Amino acid sequence: MIVLGIETSCDETAAAIVTDAREIRADVVLSQLDDHTPYGGVVPEIAARAHLEHLDGLIRRALEESGLGLGDIDAVAATGGPGLIGGVIVGVMTAKAIAAARGLPFVAVNHLEGHALTARLTDDVPFPYLLLLVSGGHCQLLVVEGVGRYRRLGTTIDDAVGEAFDKTAKLLGLGYPGGPLLEKAAAQATNPGRFDLPRPMVGRPGCDFSFSGLKTAVRRHVEELGGPLSVEDRADLAAAFQNTVAEVMADRCARAMRQFKDLHPQGGALVVAGGVAANKALRARLQRLADREGMPFVAPPLRLCTDNAAMIAWAGIERLRLGQTDPLDFAPRPRWPL
Ligand code: KG4
Ligand code: ZN
Repeated sequence: MIVLGIETSCDETAAAIVTDAREIRADVVLSQLDDHTPYGGVVPEIAARAHLEHLDGLIRRALEESGLGLGDIDAVAATGGPGLIGGVIVGVMTAKAIAAARGLPFVAVNHLEGHALTARLTDDVPFPYLLLLVSGGHCQLLVVEGVGRYRRLGTTIDDAVGEAFDKTAKLLGLGYPGGPLLEKAAAQATNPGRFDLPRPMVGRPGCDFSFSGLKTAVRRHVEELGGPLSVEDRADLAAAFQNTVAEVMADRCARAMRQFKDLHPQGGALVVAGGVAANKALRARLQRLADREGMPFVAPPLRLCTDNAAMIAWAGIERLRLGQTDPLDFAPRPRWPL
């Protein structure tokens, strides 16, 4: 089975071709970074127009890279939500048009399910597994029991963790997109222990997250330092923030692991997914935790953590294998919890 995947839910226009033998035949991503940078964040209207302008060309490029033609494609999968609705509409309409013209099955993929199943594209990860889903809009701990079968153990009570990275990077004057820039700054820290930050939720029962207090604490340090921050201040604060986030994540995951083991005594892996899963300090911290708990740890390659269409094609394949498709009158969903 060869599936064309389309992703347009935020500021990356992406197309990919993936087979049910877990081969990524093509995976092209066009970042709209330069379009949004002057505004310090994603502007939905600009994003939707850029998707419309670039998607056709990107699909053509994916086909060229794979050496395949549209006639070789068995199904089309597109992100059906959640996300910025203008962009989602562009992707869904394009996918429907190809499916209708070629008489192919169409699958509307939940973007979060795309992230959630990525580990099964790159590694042999059987169900069930414990998933830490960390992106720009979400921060959740889930038990993945099967395709479409998710049990939520915890979520954020305020900001998503990617949002916290982005806002903190802005506070530090690092620019946009915050996550990768903050990670880069943290790598330059000469004294990562210089600033003491609170660790929201650590030690509390349950598996929920909170990040707004952490962001506020960084702001207070910035104000106390006064004036423009030096390169060292920025780097040390970035490192403090990043290490604290990793510690909070590890604490929450340790609790979730206990719940997971109660639910599934036969065990399973700890999997991390979503844009923030590209963060190397977080990956290293979770690896240490998993080693201690005797759980396998799976983190997809960096480029498959951030938004891409290979994960959408793959989630489409997982659903198609169960005989699940969507009708051509599927309505794009701005909100779509897992
Ligand atoms: O999954 P994703 O690409 O898009 C959403 O579905 O939200 O996640 C984007 C988020 C952004 O907040 C970005 O700053 C964050 O992931 N991110 C990172 C890193 N790379 C991307 N955060 C921390 N460290 C990174 N290396
Ligand atoms: Zn995403």
